[in-house]
Amino acid sequence: MSERAPHDDPDGSGTDPTTLWHGRFAEPPNEALMAMSISIRFDQRLWRDDLAGSRAHVNGLLRAGIIDTDETSAIQEALSQVEREFETESFEFFDTDEDIHTAIERRVTELAGDAGAKLHTGRSRNDQVATDIRLWCRRELTAVAAKVFALQQVLLDRAEAHRYAILPGYTHLQRAQPVLLAHHLLAHGWALGRDVDRLMQSVARLDVSPLGAGALGGSSLPLDPAATAEELGFASVFTNSLDAVSDRDFVAEALFDLSLLAVHLSRLGEEWILWTSEEFGFATLTDAFATGSSMLPQKKNADIAELARGKSGRMIGNLVGLLVTLKGLPLAYNRDLQEDKEPLFDSVDQISLVLDAIRGMIATARFNEAAMREAASSQTVAAIDVAEWLVQRNVPFRQAHSIVGALVRRHLAGEASLDSLVTTELGPEAAALLSADSSIANRRSPGGGGSQTLDSQLSAYRAMLGREQQLIE
Ligand code: ARG
Repeated sequence: MSERAPHDDPDGSGTDPTTLWHGRFAEPPNEALMAMSISIRFDQRLWRDDLAGSRAHVNGLLRAGIIDTDETSAIQEALSQVEREFETESFEFFDTDEDIHTAIERRVTELAGDAGAKLHTGRSRNDQVATDIRLWCRRELTAVAAKVFALQQVLLDRAEAHRYAILPGYTHLQRAQPVLLAHHLLAHGWALGRDVDRLMQSVARLDVSPLGAGALGGSSLPLDPAATAEELGFASVFTNSLDAVSDRDFVAEALFDLSLLAVHLSRLGEEWILWTSEEFGFATLTDAFATGSSMLPQKKNADIAELARGKSGRMIGNLVGLLVTLKGLPLAYNRDLQEDKEPLFDSVDQISLVLDAIRGMIATARFNEAAMREAASSQTVAAIDVAEWLVQRNVPFRQAHSIVGALVRRHLAGEASLDSLVTTELGPEAAALLSADSSIANRRSPGGGGSQTLDSQLSAYRAMLGREQQLIE
């Protein structure tokens, strides 16, 4: 990074020419102020969006008759040059570049001279930065949705490949009823489907251009915000300039969407930590998606699943941090709003890491069907099926529940196997219901975890993926 922008004092004021506001100031900014104020370290990733916003704004200035065609092409060429410099990572920053907007405008002015000095006409960094973040969110949240979609696809692939595997379904982490592994995997897939839906709804809601709102109240120049909005591909344009520059609802919403998605991945991660433990042994991670211990030679750990769980806390922190930042702000723009970007970028970065790693972990893991089946085969796991068998013989459910409950109690007290107690008390037909297989085969209520309804769930899930694909494209 070079020390100082190599342009001289353009208006001859004799004061520091490296700030955008030097005309009004007799003293250059203090180092401590700049150290706190500079955001270039993290907002430079908005360069693509800043360039897009500037392109549209320049065309708007031409249409408004504020610059002529020569000036327009000089600025547009400078913007193209800046784009090439960013793409080839040769853009040179100066440590007087406060943020990405300042840096690009400084470079455009170097390249296009007097024409460049007209770029910021009728625009403020306040509407500029709001435009940039919306464009960034539109692209990046859609990219996150695509990664969620890819994970949902892996869950479907694994469900289809193991469609006969059975494991215990749990409530309170106690074995409750046998369910198909496919049913369990797709349960996470449905939650992820809501995440995709939510992300794309947020994208649709944030698709409003704030460009043309100026610093807060618009401009006396004949600008046409609707035209720049259209050029930038926004679905609509602001109708209140104060709201346009101060609204960060869409960042809070994005952080909520990402937090809830992170919570879903955290819950899934928690299960995989259990499933890959020696105590459960339901799944084995492939070496490439597991870690070892620096000390204990035998260890193989599910660090991906743990980090998925751990990072959700950080993402919830990002959401809460932003809400607290926003809660006391009067209209319109306040510098506090600069604090929106780091949590947003961090949450998008973190969730992208988690999604890729979890997807790879699940795609490559080996399911130990025998261990799952064994766990689902305890004598009591299908007790409800015997109670429901009684219900079909006209026994009121409360009574059926207590009859079977009493047999379970006698079995657990060591009297006999549940099978022989049920055979003696209710007959062999009832006893035959006690296996995990018959429980899975007999489960027929729509959306249940047995084999009778799996096909219809699979086709509904595929239809959901089809709808998502359209939203994401
Ligand atoms: N870097 C600022 C932000 O991210 C934009 C600049 C607006 N600054 C200002 N003093 N009005 O919010």
